Amino acid sequence: MLTLLVFAFLGLAFAENGIDGWLRYASLPRDVAAGARIPGVIIALNDSVVSPIFTAGRELQKGIAGITGVQLKVSSTTTGNTSSITVGTLDSVASAAGQVANLPELTGDGFYLDTTGSGARIIGHTERGALYGAFEYLSMLAQGNFSEVSYASNPSAPIRWANQWDNLDGSIERGYAGPSIFFKNGAVVSDLTRVSQYARLLASVGINGLVVNNVNAALAANIPLLNSANIAGLGRIADAMRPWGVRLALSLNFDAPRNNGGLATSDPFDSAVIKFWDDKTAELYRSIPDLAGFLVKANSEDQPGPLTYNRTLADGANLFAKALKPHGDGLVMFRAFVYDHHLTEDNWKNDRANAAVDFFKHLDGQFDDNVVIQIKYGPIDFQVREPPSPLFANLLQSNVAIELQVTQEYLGQQNHLVYLPPLWKTILDYDLKVEGQSSVIGRDILTGHRFNRSTNGYASVINVGTNTTWLGHHLAMSNFYAYGRLAWDPLRDETQIVEEWAHLTFGSDRKVIDTITDMSLESWPAYENYTGNLGIQTLTDITGPHYGPNPASQDGNGWGQWTRADATTIGMDRTVWNGTGFSGQYPPEIAAKYEKIETTPDDLLLWFHHVPYTQRLKSGKTVIQHFYDAHYAGAETVQSFPERWASLKGLIDDERFNEVAFRLEYQTGHAIVWRDAINEFYRNMSSIPDDQGRVGNHTWRIEAEKMTLSGYQAVSVTPFETASGRKAITTSSNQTTGTATATLDFPSGVYNIGVNYYDVMGGRAKYEILLNGQTLGKWEGNLEDKLGNTFSSQLNGHSAARVYFKGVNVEKGAVLTIRGTPDGGEPAPLDYVSILPIGRVD
Ligand SMILES: *[C@@H]1O[C@H](CO)[C@@H](O)[C@H](O)[C@H]1NC(C)=O
Ligand SMILES: *[C@@H]1O[C@H](CO)[C@@H](O)[C@H](O)[C@H]1NC(C)=O
Ligand SMILES: *[C@@H]1O[C@H](CO)[C@@H](O)[C@H](O)[C@H]1NC(C)=O
Ligand SMILES: *[C@@H]1O[C@H](CO)[C@@H](O)[C@H](O)[C@H]1NC(C)=O
Ligand SMILES: *[C@@H]1O[C@H](CO)[C@@H](O)[C@H](O)[C@H]1NC(C)=O
Ligand SMILES: *[C@@H]1O[C@H](CO)[C@@H](O)[C@H](O)[C@H]1NC(C)=O
Ligand SMILES: *[C@@H]1O[C@H](CO)[C@@H](O)[C@H](O)[C@H]1NC(C)=O
Ligand SMILES: *[C@@H]1O[C@H](CO)[C@@H](O)[C@H](O)[C@H]1NC(C)=O
Ligand SMILES: *[C@@H]1O[C@H](CO)[C@@H](O)[C@H](O)[C@H]1NC(C)=O
Ligand SMILES: *[C@@H]1O[C@H](CO)[C@@H](O)[C@H](O)[C@H]1NC(C)=O
Ligand SMILES: *[C@@H]1O[C@H](CO)[C@@H](O)[C@H](O)[C@H]1NC(C)=O
Repeated sequence: MLTLLVFAFLGLAFAENGIDGWLRYASLPRDVAAGARIPGVIIALNDSVVSPIFTAGRELQKGIAGITGVQLKVSSTTTGNTSSITVGTLDSVASAAGQVANLPELTGDGFYLDTTGSGARIIGHTERGALYGAFEYLSMLAQGNFSEVSYASNPSAPIRWANQWDNLDGSIERGYAGPSIFFKNGAVVSDLTRVSQYARLLASVGINGLVVNNVNAALAANIPLLNSANIAGLGRIADAMRPWGVRLALSLNFDAPRNNGGLATSDPFDSAVIKFWDDKTAELYRSIPDLAGFLVKANSEDQPGPLTYNRTLADGANLFAKALKPHGDGLVMFRAFVYDHHLTEDNWKNDRANAAVDFFKHLDGQFDDNVVIQIKYGPIDFQVREPPSPLFANLLQSNVAIELQVTQEYLGQQNHLVYLPPLWKTILDYDLKVEGQSSVIGRDILTGHRFNRSTNGYASVINVGTNTTWLGHHLAMSNFYAYGRLAWDPLRDETQIVEEWAHLTFGSDRKVIDTITDMSLESWPAYENYTGNLGIQTLTDITGPHYGPNPASQDGNGWGQWTRADATTIGMDRTVWNGTGFSGQYPPEIAAKYEKIETTPDDLLLWFHHVPYTQRLKSGKTVIQHFYDAHYAGAETVQSFPERWASLKGLIDDERFNEVAFRLEYQTGHAIVWRDAINEFYRNMSSIPDDQGRVGNHTWRIEAEKMTLSGYQAVSVTPFETASGRKAITTSSNQTTGTATATLDFPSGVYNIGVNYYDVMGGRAKYEILLNGQTLGKWEGNLEDKLGNTFSSQLNGHSAARVYFKGVNVEKGAVLTIRGTPDGGEPAPLDYVSILPIGRVD
């Protein structure tokens, strides 16, 4: 018992569960810490516990203690000690320390940081700005950077918000790290510790607003949002975030007048409806005096909206804008995600991508000045690659914000490492050349400079959950961090950002920083390669969980994420001359580029053009051969991740090391599932073989359905391409263990053995693999526990997974056996076994 306790204690001391994210304030190595110049006292010029300046004082104290071991006092008045860290607003610093001369210009939540001389001065343009300056100073110290600096930093835009898609029942739409930190059983949770921890992370990267509930606010579970108990609960959430300068906003149900107010209509022109919203807004402000505003998803995917009442979208947005106006600076974030999801594919000219401009362009100039149009980065929906939404070039008299996703809805759901800033940069750095003038989305449009707007900015769906990792994958936190950094300054370099994040999150070891940086930078190109390349979109199951491969689901339904793939051709014809006309929504120079195949870059070819599989790319390859090659290359790239990560063992704590190692290994298997499914699907459809002879030709593979089976039966898998050879095996009953046996006819040698199985919901089947009757290893169908998210109860591309047994000695003629013991609804499914010579990716 005693030894167990000691062990547990040591374990705790070294383990890190991710809860502090990049704000760990780990102690610096002794030699680095020796160079620290730490002032003698912290002066935080506001003693109100709800002030971000007070928070800054506490955070500086905590951070400096962690980083250097020096415990400083915090005072709220000057002490006369020149060796102090003073943090305050311009006014408070001026009145405490006299005139502040020659300060660079500060705007918005900007700050000035001065570490020259014996002390440090952190001066915010707002109280929130002062807190941001304190975080910046701490970030320098945590990276062992004690240089003397003196500079101002101003945000690129005033709106830097996060969105959570949390439902009142505690579930999170497209959340992958456990249930909500805000809601449970229809109400706000009582313990808001996690909420303040989240606000701290948000503040540390300059995020100043948070929409706490799902945009799908009309879901039945979310209807009670506006009852008085919940409004009081929302007030408590706002209170918990206020010391961090994060303001609360709410998603509204357009139909609340009918659903909550007992009215017969939600018509925005109806006087009772107007009164309902005026009263509700006033009630909300009584509970949340600094309410940041509302987010509205209307007339989208069956949500009600103004069009339901024959009013315009602007009429709908302005209804809320007018309700907010008397109370201060609250904003209506009105989503541009309005489209018809019952489009018919038969009509060549139909195109969901056209929707945002079709619905909003003619309303430009009709929105109240506290309405902001929140526009997804691309015209469809967070795909692995999209051109920028042309709406950014069509709203010249409206406030706009870009909508990004930190939560990886279509991008691996935090089970795959995918560092997103390189994708975001394809949009932020894009020059739309509106009216022939430089119109870079991040630098010129979102800053408001190009069209003289003062209320533009950023929103990102983050969807943290109760898991201590926040997002499920420790490495996914770089996306959260980078989102804040880029909203503050869209010109920042994505490589520098991930290096800085890795340093803060995992320590100063150069090998650790470089390995994480390199893998992160390769991860999005690799993911694009093994999911959907050439602008065809993420070829996932668009009517299901948006996770594994299912290219057929793109077509033949009203959702409009079509590929128009047939036996000879593929791609959406979005030209003006012969297609949907989408390319014409861009300014002339951009439109002309996309109108022709010759001037369309390869990576968006299939987004804009319908071409034969044999169409030559600029690379010289055909479209179909590029598909095959890219899928092989992408899957191969990620095969190297586990080994590269393994080289960091001992350089970071075991807990995070092991958790990341598990996910990277899982990713290697799922990347192969993706690769094979997409390649097999298009090989089948096009009848064109891979000129490298790889697709459908798996020399090292033993199909489970071809093994000798006892208690197992062969089953067909749907979609067909998500099982090798179209078939898998499942146990014949859910009570008895099944056995699959094969004699191995490979030359004797050392092999890595990969076993592909399906991990479905509904049970935790047990598996054992044996060689000549000797147990080689065991595993369980328990990814629902180990990854923390559940994909499917069926055998398909979501549930398909792989385990490895590495470095196994295999004699020619050895007998391989797999025993699968079903559990409840999980019939121990198996697809195939790969016996791979070392270094070989099958
Ligand atoms: C300022 O603070 C430092 C560190 O606490 C201390 O060593 C020094 O004596 C103080 N100076 C004055 C003038 O109080
Ligand atoms: C101190 O902080 C509170 C809360 O943020 C604020 O209302 C007050 O104006 C601040 N006081 C000064 C002197 O800045
Ligand atoms: C230290 O931080 C400053 C301010 O962010 C930066 O300009 C400088 O490059 C950093 N120095 C090092 C060595 O990282
Ligand atoms: C909207 O207008 C159409 C055509 O003018 C009409 O048929 C319909 O009843 C109207 N709907 C409502 C809710 O007023
Ligand atoms: C920009 O807008 C402001 C008001 O929002 C106006 O006063 C100013 O004249 C405008 N500037 C230009 C160059 O249009
Ligand atoms: C976090 O998720 C992991 C699975 O990824 C799970 O093992 C762990 O129990 C979860 N922790 C919490 C606190 O939810
Ligand atoms: C033009 O559009 C038609 C459909 O209306 C399509 O069948 C044809 O392939 C397109 N032509 C070219 C050259 O893309
Ligand atoms: C993606 O695929 C292309 C084409 O095969 C290849 O040139 C590139 O190296 C691949 N990149 C990654 C990161 O896998
Ligand atoms: C594609 O699959 C279908 C059955 O789904 C089959 O009939 C056809 O022969 C396959 N074509 C090729 C080229 O493999
Ligand atoms: C299948 O792959 C092997 C190498 O693994 C190769 O020798 C053979 O030619 C391929 N078969 C076809 C039909 O491409
Ligand atoms: C086993 O399968 C039977 C028939 O499909 C089903 O009724 C039963 O619920 C299953 N048992 C468990 C424990 O899931």
